[in-house]
Formats: sequence, structure tokens, C-alpha cells
Amino acid sequence: MEATDVTQKYDFNVVRWFSVATVVYLVFGTFVGVFIAAQLAWPVFNFDSPYLSFGRLRPLHTNAVIFAFGGCVLMASAFYSVQRTCGVKLWSNKMAWFTFWGWNLIIVLAVITLPLGLTQGKEYAELEWPIDILIAVVWVSFTINFIMTIATRKSSHIYVSNWFFLGMMVMITYLHVVNSLAIPVEMFKSYSIFSSVQDAMIQWWWGHNAVGFYLTAGFLGIMYYFVPKQADRPIFSYRLSVLHFWCLMFGYVWLGAHHLHYTALPDWTGSLAAAISLAMIVPSWGGAVNGMMTLSGAWDKLRTDYVLRFLIMSLAFYAMSTFEGPVMSLKVVNALSHYTDWTIGHVHSGALGWVGMVGAGAIYHLLPRLWKTEMYSAKLVNMHFWLATIGIVIYIVAMWISGIMQGLMWRDYDEFGTLTYTFAESVSAMHPYYVMRTVGGFIYFSGAVVMLYNMVMTIRQASREPQMHTATAQA
Ligand code: HEM
Ligand code: HEM
Repeated sequence: MEATDVTQKYDFNVVRWFSVATVVYLVFGTFVGVFIAAQLAWPVFNFDSPYLSFGRLRPLHTNAVIFAFGGCVLMASAFYSVQRTCGVKLWSNKMAWFTFWGWNLIIVLAVITLPLGLTQGKEYAELEWPIDILIAVVWVSFTINFIMTIATRKSSHIYVSNWFFLGMMVMITYLHVVNSLAIPVEMFKSYSIFSSVQDAMIQWWWGHNAVGFYLTAGFLGIMYYFVPKQADRPIFSYRLSVLHFWCLMFGYVWLGAHHLHYTALPDWTGSLAAAISLAMIVPSWGGAVNGMMTLSGAWDKLRTDYVLRFLIMSLAFYAMSTFEGPVMSLKVVNALSHYTDWTIGHVHSGALGWVGMVGAGAIYHLLPRLWKTEMYSAKLVNMHFWLATIGIVIYIVAMWISGIMQGLMWRDYDEFGTLTYTFAESVSAMHPYYVMRTVGGFIYFSGAVVMLYNMVMTIRQASREPQMHTATAQA
């Protein structure tokens, strides 16, 4: 505990706004997720409108959860933890506000252009060229501010969470710029400068590294700061965390080709990607164990500390998805899993379990500290935890069953050498699992709504009693 008011010492206002935006976008992004899940179960929800069709709302969902929710939680936690670990204010508070408004403008533009069908057609890089330029400018402003804040630090050491954030920032700048190189023909139409197989390779080099550096390295930055802080213990092994960092940085860039097995890409590129994917189990599990073992000797904290539950459960999902991913990268497994819902199950065990839970844990850690109050309701935090956990389990079990069933139905031959099932039969066999996914998704979404309510009530409580907890604001 510090008697000084830490909220005066640092630039926390921008962090507050990023935190609020994070929760709002979590509710919005998961709502669209539930809606498109319902469309797959009951196509009538497409309402015969191009603007509400699955094809246009799917990228809206992915952009909302990855870039709106994910981006805001990354920016909130990076701007917060860099100040705390370096003992200085942000290098430029104005620039941080530019990042905040710029990023939100990008999100608004995505919400307008994607339902209108304006897209580059590249997954996770759908937004058209003027928005891509804006993304590059705003992202670079975030990066420069972060680097310069580290440069002005009072401590001699650069804490490991900052390395993970830095790795993400540098690599995403590079990946985004290269993958988005395009020739504009109109205000909202452009063509990639790459073509055919090169285009596919560059796209999945970006695609997998969006997972590896943004959804993984960035969120590991969050994990390495917030797990020890919330547990009030040092990280289990600092040496292991540094090893984890370098292995991820050197390993992830090679994996993109595992998305393109059995395509026109040279075969050896897929084999190389699969071999390195398999090797990635080692650092990933090392990192997960490192986070979990931070609680070694203090596991009882999990009984009472609901925020810690989010963080530790996220590590269990991190371990699970980084085991499943390497297995799916093997050609023999990928021959079954590719194009099926198994991939969607894998995505959401990482996205809902790892990214969603570590992100929620970080925001729950931040809210009372930023507003100098207690959380409005610890019981609601616990309720959110259970809704999220149950929702994820229902979602991913449904996708595992439907994915493996799809894969097996598509490859089944009868004694005459013809396919046993038509494609339509495999689609209709999926129906119960699509309903189950919608139910699981709705439960997860309800948890996000509970979080939004708890956040609003916490902020209202703080505004009613502004001075109550000043002296006990936790560092
Ligand atoms: C209520 C929660 C959610 C529901 C119901 C949901 C539902 C869906 C659905 C129905 C799809 C399309 C699947 C298909 O095309 O077959 C999808 C795709 C996707 N979702 Fe979610 N989602 C949720 C939350 C999230 C979150 C929190 C994230 C990320 C942090 C996320 C990331 C993605 C990604 C990356 C894809 C594309 C997967 C691929 O192309 O393989 N989702 N989601
Ligand atoms: C060592 C770690 C990992 C490896 C080796 C890995 C590997 C894979 C493989 C082989 C696929 C299927 C490719 C295909 O058949 O098209 C895949 C898809 C995917 N994975 Fe992972 N994965 C890992 C961890 C994660 C984590 C932690 C997340 C989420 C935070 C994640 C998110 C995704 C997404 C979004 C896709 C779908 C991409 C798409 O087709 O749109 N992965 N991953």
C-alpha cells in the first residue's frame, strides 16, 4: 500500500478511457459473435439484407473482438504498466490521446465500411487502404510513445512485460505495412501488390503473426505484469520469462505456412512451419507454467480472489490452445481439421479462454486502482468468471464435436468409392452443435454484460465518494 495518490503521479486518464472502451467493445463484439452464431444455426437471421448477412457481419465480429476489444485492453494495460514499471509518466500524454481517438475512429470506420461490403478480402486485414494508412499512423504513435516512455525511465531495468509489448508493437508495424501494400483504384477499392501464391503466403504470414504477436505476445505482456501484481508475488522464474520472450520472437514468424497445407505453396514451407509449430509447445508451456507457478505456495488466494481466477484460468486456456495448435499444424491432422469447425473451436479456446479472460482480469485489476475505490461487487466478478468459463466450455466442446464429425463425413467413402455423404448432409448434421455454440456464446456474452454493469456501478460509486479511498489507493 502507498499513502501517496498514485493517480496524480501518472497519466491515468487515458488509461481510464481505454479501460471503459475495452468493456464496451467486449459487449459489442461478443453480441455480434452471438448474432452470427445464430445465423449459422438459423439462416433466417440474415433477414435477406446484404448489410446484415453473415458474410459481412463475420469480419465485423472479428474486427470488433480483436482490434476494438483486444486493441483497447492492450493499449490500456501497456500505457498503465509502462508507467508503473518505469516509474515515470507517459512521454507524451497528448500523443496517447491521439492514439485513443485515432484507434476509436478506426473502429467506427470499420463498423461503417464492413457492413457496406467494403473490404480487401484478406482475413484480419479487411479494412480498405485509407483506413490501413490510419492504422499504421495510430499504431506507430502508440509504439513511439511506449518506446520513449521506456527511454525516460527512472529504473535501470526494463521489466519483461515491456519486452513483450515492444515485440508486439515492432512486429505488428512491420507485418501490417507489408501485408497491406496495395494499389488503390478508388477511395475504397484497392488491389494487393502481391498476387496468387505470394499473396496467400504474405497474407498468412500476417494472419498467423496477428495471432502470435498481437493475440499472444501482447497478451503475455499483460500476463507478466498483472499476474504477479494481483498475486502480490514476484514472477516464478524471471529467467524463464526472458527465454519465453526470445523463443516466441524467433519462432512465431515461421508458422504462417501451416495455414496453407496442401495448396500451391511449396510443400517444404508447410513442413518447416509444422516443425517449428511443434517446437513452440516448449516455450508456450514454459510461459504458462511460469505464470501459474507464481501462485506456488499461495494457491489458497484463488478461493477468495476472483480476479486472480480469471488470470490463472486464462493461463490454462493458453496452455491448452498452444498444445492444440501445434497438433493441428501437423499435415496429417490438418488434412482432417482444415476447413472444419475444429479450427473455430481452437480459435475460440484461445480467443475466449486466453485473450478474453486475461483481458478481463487485467481490467478488473485496473478499475479499482484507476478510480480509487473498491469494485462495486466482488460477487458479480465471480458470476462473470463462471458465466465465461461455462460459456467457453459449451462453445468449444460443440465445435470439437462438429469439426471432427465434418472432417470425417467429408472423407468417408462407400464400397463403390463414392462419397458416403453429400455436403448438404454434413451441413444439416451440424445444426445441433451450432445451436449449442449459440447458447455457449450467449452465456459468455451475458458475462460481458455483467462486467459492464459492474464497471458502470464502480465508476458511479467512485464519483459519489471521490475522496473515500484516496489514502489506500493501491499501487
Ligand atoms: C460470445 C462470444 C463469441 C461468439 C458466439 C463467437 C462466434 C463466432 C462465430 C459464429 C464465428 C464464425 C465461425 C465460422 O465462420 O464458422 C466466429 C469467428 C471468429 N471469432 Fe468469434 N465469437 C465469440 C467471441 C470471440 C472473441 C472474444 C474473439 C477474440 C478475442 C473471437 C475471435 C474470432 C475469430 C478470430 C474468428 C475467425 C475464425 C477463423 O476464421 O478461423 N470471437 N466467432
Ligand atoms: C503455438 C501456438 C499455436 C499454434 C502452433 C497454432 C496453430 C494453428 C493452426 C495449425 C491452425 C489451423 C490452420 C488451418 O488449418 O487453416 C490455427 C488456426 C488459428 N489459430 Fe492457432 N495456434 C497456436 C495458438 C493460438 C492461440 C493462442 C490463438 C488465440 C489467441 C490462436 C488463434 C488462431 C486463429 C484465430 C486461427 C484461425 C485462423 C484462420 O483460419 O482464420 N492460435 N492455429
